[in-house]
Amino acid sequence: MGRINFGQPPVRKKQDEINIKTPEEINKMRVAGRLAADVLVMIEPFVKEGVTTNELDKICHEFMVKEQRVIPAPLNYRGFPKSICTSVNQQVCHGIPNNKPLKKGDIINIDITVIKDGFHGDTSKMFIIGGETSPLAKRLVQSSYDCMRVGIEQVKPGAMLADIGKAIQKLAKSQRFSVVQDYCGHGIGREFHEQPQVLHYYSKKAEPVELKPGMTFTIEPMINAGKHQVKRLGDEWTVVTKDRSLSSQWEHTILVTETGFEVLTLREEEQPF
Ligand code: MF3
Ligand code: CO
Ligand code: CO
Repeated sequence: MGRINFGQPPVRKKQDEINIKTPEEINKMRVAGRLAADVLVMIEPFVKEGVTTNELDKICHEFMVKEQRVIPAPLNYRGFPKSICTSVNQQVCHGIPNNKPLKKGDIINIDITVIKDGFHGDTSKMFIIGGETSPLAKRLVQSSYDCMRVGIEQVKPGAMLADIGKAIQKLAKSQRFSVVQDYCGHGIGREFHEQPQVLHYYSKKAEPVELKPGMTFTIEPMINAGKHQVKRLGDEWTVVTKDRSLSSQWEHTILVTETGFEVLTLREEEQPF
């Protein structure tokens, strides 16, 4: 018999709201992650000077629906109108595909989320149009990739969620870049966005969360060449840097394993971890 609780709401810590996936669920997350990664591999040869982001959206949509038989998670998600997100130059995230042709030197993030068998896989990468861009843009794209990797490398049972953001912020700062604070990574599974929120910077306000085997979440730092502040455009989705500086982002879906982590959305072109 428990003690009578005089009208106090039960204390529910963030830690208790984080789903631990079963082995069966983890296998489904592996499948979804692989499929999301495959879309990025498939689209690569089409990401060229002159193509529009609407055309890229169409190609990805057809591939996902007809060949992979997955659901493109962004489509109609809280009213998002397209199947992928495309964020170009000073756009930070959630860019809506449109009819503007990409030009040489543009940097673009393509963000893919699929649903397969009830589970989500979420991953994004940067492309440099024409393979050449400014030295600053090149450094930024590389830096944001390194930030994602150093964040991932913190993941193991017993580590704290905050270790991820700390490591990312330290690296970005050392390269004189800034970390976006208004958007974060997220738990993922049956839901697109689950607990916990994965901050890419250090905040003493965040509740402590210990990483445990079976947790799945994304790490997806957005790194700006200028200041960290961002704003949302009138389309209700596209996020841009306030100072119009360039922004770059990479994203992987991660599983906490008994000994460390597994990158569920790893592509063959990447260095293994
Ligand atoms: N894929 C994004 C993320 O990494 C979310 C996009 S929401 C959408 O969390 F509605 F814009 F698709
Ligand atoms: Co995500
Ligand atoms: Co994403």
